[in-house]
Amino acid sequence: MTLPKIELHLHLEGAAPPAFVRGLATEKKIDISGIFDDRGNYAYTDFWHFLKVYEAATSVLTTPADYARLTRAVLAESAASGVIYSECFLSPDFCGGRDVGAWREYLHAIREAAEEAERQDGITLRGIVTPIRHFGPEKARETALCAAETAGDWLVGFGLAGDEKVGRPKDFAWSFDCAREAGLRLTCHAGEWGGPDSVRDAVRDLRVERIGHGVRAIEDPALVDELAEAGIVLEVCPGSNVALKLYPNFRAHPIEKLMERGVKVTVSTDDPPFFHTTMAREYDALAEAFGWDDGVFRQIADTSIRAAFCMEETRDKILKRLEKAHA
Ligand code: HPA
Ligand code: ZN
Repeated sequence: MTLPKIELHLHLEGAAPPAFVRGLATEKKIDISGIFDDRGNYAYTDFWHFLKVYEAATSVLTTPADYARLTRAVLAESAASGVIYSECFLSPDFCGGRDVGAWREYLHAIREAAEEAERQDGITLRGIVTPIRHFGPEKARETALCAAETAGDWLVGFGLAGDEKVGRPKDFAWSFDCAREAGLRLTCHAGEWGGPDSVRDAVRDLRVERIGHGVRAIEDPALVDELAEAGIVLEVCPGSNVALKLYPNFRAHPIEKLMERGVKVTVSTDDPPFFHTTMAREYDALAEAFGWDDGVFRQIADTSIRAAFCMEETRDKILKRLEKAHA
């Protein structure tokens, strides 16, 4: 499908093609052969094992130059899928070990690579810093300080990734307050491995305006109404949810029900090579499962760019491109 697409939920390291990671591992003589199956794909058994494999794959990315190469590879793939605007999650935990000076260097390299992709492939990228929940609230504070130091027109958001089952959102309130005060917009993974209450807690205790996943809100009709009423945007990643067996197939996924109930939904890939997906595949699978036409996808793109954390000038530019494509 060639419709222009907006992606709001993409983990940069999680978008690294396995061949790219293998190449770096060979160059640096790091043995991570155990994370691949015999066909060369990432191999994992469930979400928690996925997080381990993800961290092992990330261990080969050790310099700003590695992240620049990664950014170029990821954006080339996104642009080939028709993505014109993307937001990606970045973690100072992996980029410089939460040292602000080192983080600035990684960020600079990523940003330069993104600007090159914008010139060559017409895709715009912005960054969202995410601490890793299972690394704990202490480390999240250091991560928040890195984010606050570099907040601006490119680094636009703050979120929370990692194991949703570890700790509670309010443990991270200091970090989210710090990020908010620095002008960053807020999102948080919830309602994927945690139930509806995890979504409630994130909205109440962290005052986020978007939720990463959030799909399990469907299990609580009152919460669905609250999300619709408050205009909270869900970063829905249907292929990720199916790959990790949260739902057996696209048809069984609650995205359409949430949309029908008035919740703002967007579509993203999460960690595309891990989940054998791309934005083009997500759109194709949704069209097939629900019979959605271009009008529905246009509405999703529109909801997405309005929920993007970029500055107004960037939003206007992307909105114009969407209008032109659908004229
Ligand atoms: N979910 C939560 N944490 C993550 C993910 C994800 O898909 N990818 C990397 N960290
Ligand atoms: Zn995610």
